Amino acid sequence: MNTTLNTIFARHQHRDGALLPILHDIQHELGYVPDEAVPLIARALNLSRAEVHGVITYYHHFRRTPPDRHVVHVCCAEACQANGSEALANHAAARLQQGDIAMEPVYCLGLCSIGPAIQIDETTLHARVTPEKFDALIAALGE
Ligand code: FES
Repeated sequence: MNTTLNTIFARHQHRDGALLPILHDIQHELGYVPDEAVPLIARALNLSRAEVHGVITYYHHFRRTPPDRHVVHVCCAEACQANGSEALANHAAARLQQGDIAMEPVYCLGLCSIGPAIQIDETTLHARVTPEKFDALIAALGE
């Protein structure tokens, strides 16, 4: 981790407002901003730990724990609701209770007429997702 941080610090350290670009780069490289990085960031930028911690916790974008291996977005917008997305979301929440797959609501994936829709890992869209189809998709992820 230290080599990664030092590379990122060298890239941004001497510019005004370096903290946010550094935090973005750390999250991009490591997937999150580890608590152990806070004192190193503070020292590199001559800030207090509280200042760095305050910025990390203010912006919801920054993760303080490693990301889940997969993220499933379930559309909860109106058209998908009309096609059963609430029941699907409940099924998905129960199915994903354990393991390292996160479920997050999303509001429209552009598949409104063929919902309920989900997206897996920001890449793959699926339409007309039933609980059975959902389970098969999750099984295909190796969970
Ligand atoms: Fe769900 Fe548009 S409302 S994809």
